[in-house]
Amino acid sequence: MIKPELLFLKQEDVISAGILDMKMVLEMVEKVFYMDGIGQVKNPVKTIVNIPNDDEWQSRFISMPVYVGGNINRPGVKWAAESTANMKTGDIPMGIDIVILSDPTTVLPVAIMEGTLITAMRTAAAAGVAAKYLAPNQAEVVGCVGAGVIGRTMIMALMQVLPNLKQIRMCDLNLEKAEKLAAEFKEEIEVKPTKSVEQAVTGADVIATMTTSRKPFVKAEWVKPGAMVIQMSSFEVEAGVVKKADKIVVDSWAQMKENTHSVFYELLQNGDISDDDITLLKEVVCGAKPGRESADELTMFSSRGMGCLDIIVADHLYKQAKQKGLGQKLVLWDEAKWV
Ligand SMILES: NC(=O)c1ccc[n+]([C@@H]2O[C@H](COP(=O)([O-])OP(=O)(O)OC[C@H]3O[C@@H](n4cnc5c(N)ncnc54)[C@H](O)[C@@H]3O)[C@@H](O)[C@H]2O)c1
Repeated sequence: MIKPELLFLKQEDVISAGILDMKMVLEMVEKVFYMDGIGQVKNPVKTIVNIPNDDEWQSRFISMPVYVGGNINRPGVKWAAESTANMKTGDIPMGIDIVILSDPTTVLPVAIMEGTLITAMRTAAAAGVAAKYLAPNQAEVVGCVGAGVIGRTMIMALMQVLPNLKQIRMCDLNLEKAEKLAAEFKEEIEVKPTKSVEQAVTGADVIATMTTSRKPFVKAEWVKPGAMVIQMSSFEVEAGVVKKADKIVVDSWAQMKENTHSVFYELLQNGDISDDDITLLKEVVCGAKPGRESADELTMFSSRGMGCLDIIVADHLYKQAKQKGLGQKLVLWDEAKWV
């Protein structure tokens, strides 16, 4: 009788397996966008349960099942969650996630791992991959809004993909958080805390928003021609920014379109944009559509989050963990009942 074993990786194991290596995560994320572009990934639209309701959610649970094919051959699911209560206490992260990897043949689970850092790293890496193809060539100044978890990983990702980067302006409702990030990165890059969004983003070569705001705060007149705008949440830039963009690239349009709280939803309803105006990042990465085409093109990337990013990164970490002997083995059953 088979006694199936799976590996449990707590956050410390996930770190020892290499999750904080942004270069690796960028490579994995770019690879999975490419694989998706050539049809090797199954990534259905995620299912979201908002509690108590969609308009005024206090917590939300998100199921993201995926199959990454090709030479990865890994089915898995991310079970993600976000809590406004955690934002208030500040004791634990706002977002908390778990990743499960399975065997494609036996369907046995092979690993369960802490997924919060995977989310943080792969989310910014998606923006990093987009910036590689869409940012201005000589980008020196980045204007960031949101000095939380994704704010930190955004700095890590943009430092990797923007070779001329000199300064990151960072704004947050809580200025102390921006100051903390400035201190944390002081050996690597100048992070300048700003008191207003306008100061952070006006004239920046790349603008990145990653806040929990439910109201837009980036005005079109603050965005210069030839810039790149990265929006990681749903409604951070005003509709005018999207209207001004020459190229709109997203990770998953199917997911973005159905989000009634997104800036795109409003524009679609008003007939200001249509499906034809949207480019998918996978199309750019696999060469089916162009990235940035000229110096004065205003490009925009927005993301809703795709599970295939989590699964390819988690699969890599699982392999590393097995090689390094990390984690705790769990047994699914001693003797299977009702076989
Ligand atoms: N697209 C994706 O794949 C993806 C994945 C994970 C998280 N997210 C989204 O990214 C956002 C940030 O997530 P996080 O984990 O970093 O959250 P976090 O709570 O760690 O940080 C959010 C920060 O935004 C700041 N903020 C809120 N409103 C603001 C405003 N109007 N102006 C300036 N600062 C403001 C808060 O003070 C906080 O520091 C969330 O909306 C989350 O849903 C997207």
